[in-house]
Amino acid sequence: MCGIIGYVGHKQALEIVVAGLRRMEYRGYDSAGLAVIADGGLEVRKKAGKLSNLEQLLGEDPLPSSTTGIGHTRWATHGGPTDRNAHPHVSSDDRIAVIHNGIIENFHTLRTELEAAGVQLESETDTEVVAHLMAHTLPEVGNSLPLAMQAVCSRLQGAFTLVVVDRNQPDVVVGARRNSPLVVGLGTDGNFLASDVSAFVAHTRHALELGQDQIVVMKADSVVVTDFDGNVVEAKPFDIDWDASAAEKGGYELFMLKEISEQPKAVADSLLGRIDENFRITLDELSIDPAVLQHINKVIVIACGTAAHAGMVAKYAIEHWTHLPVDVEVASEFRYRDPIVGPDSLVIAISQSGETMDTLMGLRYAKSQGARTLAICNTVGSTIPRESDAVIYTYAGPEIAVASTKAFLTQITATFLVGLFLAQVRGTMFEDEIRGILADLDDMPRHVDLVLDTAEPIRELARSLASARSVLFLGRHVGYPVALEGALKLKELAYMHAEGFPAGELKHGPIALIEEGIPVIVIVPSPKGRAVLHDKIVSNIQEVRARGAQVIAIAEEGDESIIPFADHIIRIPAVPTLMQPLVAVVPLQIFACEMATGKGHDVDQPRNLAKSVTVE
Ligand code: G6P
Repeated sequence: MCGIIGYVGHKQALEIVVAGLRRMEYRGYDSAGLAVIADGGLEVRKKAGKLSNLEQLLGEDPLPSSTTGIGHTRWATHGGPTDRNAHPHVSSDDRIAVIHNGIIENFHTLRTELEAAGVQLESETDTEVVAHLMAHTLPEVGNSLPLAMQAVCSRLQGAFTLVVVDRNQPDVVVGARRNSPLVVGLGTDGNFLASDVSAFVAHTRHALELGQDQIVVMKADSVVVTDFDGNVVEAKPFDIDWDASAAEKGGYELFMLKEISEQPKAVADSLLGRIDENFRITLDELSIDPAVLQHINKVIVIACGTAAHAGMVAKYAIEHWTHLPVDVEVASEFRYRDPIVGPDSLVIAISQSGETMDTLMGLRYAKSQGARTLAICNTVGSTIPRESDAVIYTYAGPEIAVASTKAFLTQITATFLVGLFLAQVRGTMFEDEIRGILADLDDMPRHVDLVLDTAEPIRELARSLASARSVLFLGRHVGYPVALEGALKLKELAYMHAEGFPAGELKHGPIALIEEGIPVIVIVPSPKGRAVLHDKIVSNIQEVRARGAQVIAIAEEGDESIIPFADHIIRIPAVPTLMQPLVAVVPLQIFACEMATGKGHDVDQPRNLAKSVTVE
């Protein structure tokens, strides 16, 4: 949510900043803007709407050459998506330019104070106060940017990653970080600050993690990190294990199409090195003592959006394998009730970005209650894994399309590994049982590949249903979270009314939504798993068909018994019951993508959304 980049070095800042913004546009696309320091002055260009609008403006009103610059792509919170509210914001004396990600909660008080001192604010944002505060503070601290930043940060409440430049100090960029992401890129021709490594991975794969409440002072040849009191701290270096091409479309029309197609590899990569030659789980990176895992009495999964749906799938598997109770909760609800969580709980925070504020706050609450915490995350060096006791990284590679696809499959895979590891250390399953499941899991990339190869019927179906006003999704058992995910994808991409229900719950109210012709997509459980689930869903299908629905069954290859009950059947490979979500969700992703494309929507950057949501 909001993408930030800063560069200082020996190359032209403009190209670097614009290219960085292009890679981070998924974080927000309400406006884009940048500032460079040239000839002793600040030059700012900013424009509402997508980055292409800013690029057009830069064409009409070019910037002078400069080797120091900052840039921002916005997801609006305070103030509408207008030119004036676009970042950077500049102090009244045109000395300071600032970009910001987060929400400054006490901005009203600060704004009133500044207005009383005669400052005229130009925008409706919470950010602008920082530019004025910096400009007022600098003369009081001998024009030291880090000291001014410390003083200003001490006055701010909320979440704020800030990057600031001063026209009088053209060789330095200063950043501060509280509760929103910021990483340093260490280049040979200069250094970078960005919300996300994708912004600078084309220039360097060496990076530094910044911790909470830290300030970074960056010059072309040096980077110094301190805490908010000015004490120097050692930032942890890390290397980015993918290159710039991984964050490009690679011949696909859309990032989403590319990411859907990468799912077999994403699952395979997330298993790599975690199953030994004897099919035992080796979660070497799991730094929680197995003795502790033997004694926990409860698992709580916290996550948002698609990650929460992965957590719901995990519940079925982990409870089945370990007999531990597993609660799954959307993170934004978790800490505001009085959850029963303590030292005997294992709290698993699932997050693709590792920065989702709701999840982070839930994690911090769990820690404050003494819980053991484990992150399942796709972004190395991000906040959620850094603040957790242990982390299992998913290896989906960069996910750029705003709506999540490949991360979902890898999150399920990782939770399965955790569940089986728990079963292994707690002795709730026989070793040969675990081996069998791991062998099945190992086979899943092949099955997902098969779904991708046979996806044309679901595309055709999406085209034939282009005029539908609403689509319902039904599932039972692990098919229920898949139904929720199918509906979420359709809402996110096609802006359509879509709902996912547990099929058995339909009769308790939602069945009133059924009208003549409404498409109902049903995830059919394997008849070979728990036959009763299959029988029950057939009854549910009949209930909706009797009321005029057209039923699209997502059913496994070889399930002939479903034929009389469905108007359309989309076949998926027959896989073990608990693994079905990994194949069943893929046609639903393709369905939503095709529907959205048909409607002419921007699939990779749907309206109103941002990929990494760093506000509560
Ligand atoms: C946003 C995205 C969703 C994503 C959710 C959780 O709402 O639009 O696609 O599932 O955040 O993100 P996370 O990075 O924590 O997995």
